[in-house]
Amino acid sequence: MCSSSDEYSSSWPSSDAAATAFGTAEAELRGSQGTIENGSLPTWLNGRYYRNGPGTYENGTEEGMLHLFDGYGMVAMIELDGKENRATITNSFVRSSAYSAFKNNGAMNWREFGTPKKIHSVVDKAKDVMETVGGAMGMGETKGVTDNASVHVIERNAGYDKQGNAMTELWAMTETVPGTFALDPASLETKKRVAFSDSLDGTLTTAHPSVSDDGTLFNLLSVPGKGFTVYRMANDGKNCREKIADVPHKRPLSPAWIHDFPATNEFAVVPEMPLYFNLASLTLGLDGTHLFMDWIPTDGTTLHVVNLDSRQEGSVDSVGDLEAFFVFHWANAYTEETENGTYLHLDACVYEDPDIVEHLLLNNIRKGEGGVRP
Ligand SMILES: [Fe+2]
Repeated sequence: MCSSSDEYSSSWPSSDAAATAFGTAEAELRGSQGTIENGSLPTWLNGRYYRNGPGTYENGTEEGMLHLFDGYGMVAMIELDGKENRATITNSFVRSSAYSAFKNNGAMNWREFGTPKKIHSVVDKAKDVMETVGGAMGMGETKGVTDNASVHVIERNAGYDKQGNAMTELWAMTETVPGTFALDPASLETKKRVAFSDSLDGTLTTAHPSVSDDGTLFNLLSVPGKGFTVYRMANDGKNCREKIADVPHKRPLSPAWIHDFPATNEFAVVPEMPLYFNLASLTLGLDGTHLFMDWIPTDGTTLHVVNLDSRQEGSVDSVGDLEAFFVFHWANAYTEETENGTYLHLDACVYEDPDIVEHLLLNNIRKGEGGVRP
């Protein structure tokens, strides 16, 4: 279990660092020379380091966004050249519909994770409720849910050029399917929204797919009223997702929120922890126990182990009756063969409850010491 400790109390970010981390990126940089403050890069180090995250928490209101996860996504690239001891920085906002609408109109057009959209008329409220419910149910493209791709960035095959050379692109991702954008890996320019060439249902997903050794991507979709769909997608640029297994939701109209899931080359685990979307909260702005979600620990946690091995692919072994716990990110997963059979080991930083979700409200983080450590 994770617990707070005074052991690291000297590690609070300075106010300047906090202002930078939780402030607004003043400019989009194109190959700007970085400064190496201490020491020098190892001469063997050469490559590009990519990160995605909120580039601004402005949203047209005085208070701005409310939660760490709400800022508009900005992908940053640091090109490291150890021989020259040089670091070069490029960053770019992902041109999602959510970001573009804010830039053009100075106001949010979609709710972000912890910040509801401001709505002033009853008619607009009713329209927004319908679109949000429709979006969560998988109806419509971007109408009901944000496509603010601010969470993760991965590299994918983008097909082949005329000479047969593999091309690559970056995918900036969030927890909605329309919030998947292809970026140029050198300029970080947003090329297009990723289109999938299959007919799988689902708008809600995770921004943390698992990628196997051969580049195959595994992820899950969540469709209220239907369940989770675990799928695979080859790294061939065709973007065709193939269903592996369906896992019914414990509560069909209020699915559990899954931010990340553990997987090996043989198994993927759907961790159904009892933190559930509350559609009424999401649409009407009512408080759930944790933002727009409800924590119901009496449900316990169920781990659905999906077999990825070709001989038994799609078989699901659900391990229920576990005590309720919450995990943001799974650190590792691996199998161990023993004389008693195959053991699947999962490593994670486990919380007793999901209070961390509320601790990451910006008001808490910006307090500095005495508040919540990011
Ligand atoms: Fe994450």
